[in-house]
Amino acid sequence: MGISVGLHTLHIRSGYGNLGAGYQYPALVGSGIVEQIGEQVRKHVARKTCVVISDSNVAAVLGQRIEKSLRAAAVQPTLITIRAGEKSKTLEQAGAICDQMTAVGLDRQSFVIGLGGGVIGDISGFVAAIYHRGIPHVQIPTTLLAMVDSSIGGKTGVNTADGKNLIGAVHQPSLVIDDLDVLKTLPRREFNQGFAEIIKHAIIADAKMFKQLQSWKASEVLALQQLICRNIKIKAKIVGEDEQDRTGKRALLNFGHTVGHAIERTGNYRRLLHGEAISLGIVAACAVSIKRAGFPHTQRDAVIDLLQRFDLPTCLPKNFPRNKIISALKFDKKFESGKIRFIVTLGIGTARLSSDVTLDDIREAVSGL
Ligand SMILES: NC(=O)c1ccc[n+]([C@@H]2O[C@H](COP(=O)([O-])OP(=O)(O)OC[C@H]3O[C@@H](n4cnc5c(N)ncnc54)[C@H](O)[C@@H]3O)[C@@H](O)[C@H]2O)c1
Ligand SMILES: [Zn+2]
Repeated sequence: MGISVGLHTLHIRSGYGNLGAGYQYPALVGSGIVEQIGEQVRKHVARKTCVVISDSNVAAVLGQRIEKSLRAAAVQPTLITIRAGEKSKTLEQAGAICDQMTAVGLDRQSFVIGLGGGVIGDISGFVAAIYHRGIPHVQIPTTLLAMVDSSIGGKTGVNTADGKNLIGAVHQPSLVIDDLDVLKTLPRREFNQGFAEIIKHAIIADAKMFKQLQSWKASEVLALQQLICRNIKIKAKIVGEDEQDRTGKRALLNFGHTVGHAIERTGNYRRLLHGEAISLGIVAACAVSIKRAGFPHTQRDAVIDLLQRFDLPTCLPKNFPRNKIISALKFDKKFESGKIRFIVTLGIGTARLSSDVTLDDIREAVSGL
């Protein structure tokens, strides 16, 4: 990834929500943007004090450079670093961050920058949503998964002992900055897990991208920029049609996530990365789709091949407590009032919400993993 690419700006329209009808925010995708962060933030946020919320891994690599760029643009940053990992995405941690922000005198005229992967994006966005009843949020995603998925759409939140993302708010960002250069330090396994969400997007909305991924070469930085832009557009379009998650359209993004979340929870958020659990959830969702939506076997095989191409798991690891997966399902938000709302694919490029899927269908799909 030695070549640099020009800056591409996407304008994400948000239907409604915390910032009113017709709200738009820019997502900048390119290389070498970290050094211009102060400038970009001044241009799009126009506030002078901020907190930069990051995790121990990312702050070590990027913290100082971001602070320097902000100071050079006359923005005063306070860096708050939390321990890396999903276990930090809690209400207690969000509260502790708010307390630290108050202690350094950040008021309602300040704003929040989330610098990190999806964990940081979610918790920093949640802090931005609740601090003084809502202050602007800038997303600087540093994982592929966060760039193509979690930084777009405004879903923010934290986990509780009972499940993932059970507490949260829809709070759209004011600016998203995707600097491809930051991905250079991302471990390969973390990079690959981003492809689980990309493959999910292809299955639910983009058969052409699915084909392109079948011959994807990771070394092409321009292709990566285009791929990120394409995925931001897919997610933004679906979110824009159902921002508050009410009509079922946004639920399509949960393809692979019903079983995926249950697997993640069963592994205590440690055994598998989010994208890896989603990869398994996608395989299970394909099995359910064969049974309930006429999804062709050949396409299921193509999905499995593609996931494997990015070193994503398509079978449960040996000695994984698979019998606990079904009981972990009931904590999922999608099991509202005992009714199963499951996303099925009819064929690569299309998906729909089904209420015909039974717990037995899911059990059968899980036993096939
Ligand atoms: N809000 C949404 O719409 C949404 C969507 C999908 C996922 N999520 C959430 O995203 C989270 C998963 O995100 P993630 O996979 O990015 O996890 P993460 O934030 O834990 O990052 C993964 C790991 O990579 C490290 N890291 C991040 N950037 C790095 C870099 N540039 N160089 C070196 N190391 C780096 C982190 O410190 C961490 O150890 C989950 O909590 C999930 O629920 C949210
Ligand atoms: Zn996901």
